[in-house]
Amino acid sequence: MSKCIISGSFDPITNGHVDLIERAAAHFDTVVVAIGDNIAKQAIPAEERARLIKKVFENNSNIEAVVFRGLLAKYAILNGISVIVKGIRDRDDLKYEADMARANREISGVETFFLLCNDKYQHVSSSFVKELIAFDGDISDYVPQVIKSEVLRLYKKN
Ligand code: PNS
Repeated sequence: MSKCIISGSFDPITNGHVDLIERAAAHFDTVVVAIGDNIAKQAIPAEERARLIKKVFENNSNIEAVVFRGLLAKYAILNGISVIVKGIRDRDDLKYEADMARANREISGVETFFLLCNDKYQHVSSSFVKELIAFDGDISDYVPQVIKSEVLRLYKKN
């Protein structure tokens, strides 16, 4: 059974992430969406981000959401996964992710497959969504409809 892992902060998940995950799911039996719980500042807890992702994919039985801590490659190996999938928006993403992919292969043998993001999502990021929320912008085009109201509630700082 083929399995891949897609990691990120997903703080929050955007339509760009959803597109990437669904495209990967068309080529793998199972896609594990791995939400990093790292020491860097995160707007809401990893478990909350995982809950939102599970809601988005509740009708996709081959897409799972998990929280991981520590090295992604180690988590992948321990769970029998040998492919990481990463989305690339631009040259900056590629430069960063290429180094990460080399390092991950070196330390674990896990390969990274890159998917080019669709043009319409090139400017979409979690930071962009958070900025819109902070300034009362409309996030409808950027986050899945099914979690929109929850995202607004969880991320709106008073
Ligand atoms: O969406 P992000 O914020 O770019 O992704 C963050 C995260 C947590 C997925 C990423 O930092 C990560 O994979 N961290 C795990 C640590 C790791 O494996 N680093 C690579 C060492 S070579």
